[in-house]
Amino acid sequence: MAKPLTVLGIETSCDETGAAVVRGDRTILAERLLTQLDEHAPYGGVVPEIAARAHLSHLDGLIKSAMTAAGIGFGELDAIAATGGPGLIGGVMVGVTTAKAIAAVHDLPFLAVNHLEGHALSVRLVDAETAFPYLLLLVSGGHCQLLAVEGVGRYRRLGGTLDDAVGESFDKVAKMLGLGYPGGPALERAARDGDPARFGLPRPMAGRPGCDFSFSGLKTAVRQAAEGLPAGDFKAGDLADLAASFQAAVVDVLADRSAAAMDTFKRTDGGVPAFVVAGGVAANKAVRARLETLAGENGFRFVAPPTALCTDNAAMIAWAGIERLALGLTDPLDFKPRPRWPLDELAHA
Ligand code: KG4
Ligand code: ZN
Repeated sequence: MAKPLTVLGIETSCDETGAAVVRGDRTILAERLLTQLDEHAPYGGVVPEIAARAHLSHLDGLIKSAMTAAGIGFGELDAIAATGGPGLIGGVMVGVTTAKAIAAVHDLPFLAVNHLEGHALSVRLVDAETAFPYLLLLVSGGHCQLLAVEGVGRYRRLGGTLDDAVGESFDKVAKMLGLGYPGGPALERAARDGDPARFGLPRPMAGRPGCDFSFSGLKTAVRQAAEGLPAGDFKAGDLADLAASFQAAVVDVLADRSAAAMDTFKRTDGGVPAFVVAGGVAANKAVRARLETLAGENGFRFVAPPTALCTDNAAMIAWAGIERLALGLTDPLDFKPRPRWPLDELAHA
């Protein structure tokens, strides 16, 4: 049997600096992830220049540490993969330049991985059963899309957000409610003891034809609900109820739009299709639970990567690199980092 491919993956597209060594037999040999939370927290969000500088300061050390933990030298790798976009350009440049330098010095193939493809394929790192095609709900800080994943590099977009991404709306609502940064996990915690039925918030796009999303009206509705509460007398219970009501509206919308996508998604081979949820918002327990029920009701097998693989990480980049390398899809060393890089464009490449 052929030796499994081993790839070093690098992630620097937002506020996590990551390096991971992953093998084609689905073994994560080593993984290092450094979050820049403390650097960005005083600003209430990610500051691109601070992020780029922090990636530059930490990436080399994280790569060294991951390689040591994996117990291999660069010469034993089959390729170097880095997020080539989309993302904050300064950070992407740091990761891409580092990966190119290692690839050039050690005469290894370089792979520029679309960050969204990293999320889209991450499920296959942990679940060998998830075969193409599968239906994917990709919900992160910058994206909210429903896709038919037909193969590596082959994505058919069924729907997407017309305005805010769902993670972005969690972050904005959390900020509005004074829950701090990062917003998603804080909002989920705040919602835990709240009454999801107290505020009658809208479910934008629910029941509409197609599979598109919209979240900006929901955010405005939360603001109006908050303003309707007695000023200066905002109780912890109000906050929990508002957070729970918002989360329930998001869950309803995600379920409604996913159900519409399930209706249009058909497997030609008659197999049981998989419904996969990935990206940072897939870490949310209420979202996962509802989508799991929905998948069961619609004859889909529900698969979600463990939460550590849902939020940004380098193992998913290494894995997407392995999948691309296996197909010979390497990139030239003059690849230019891409701040914008729609996933369905890969299908036309
Ligand atoms: O995939 P990701 O780590 O980074 C991007 O590629 O954007 O996703 C980050 C997003 C943020 O908006 C964050 O608030 C959201 O995922 N998120 C959550 C939770 N954990 C992270 N949203 C809701 N509930 C969570 N538990
Ligand atoms: Zn991401």
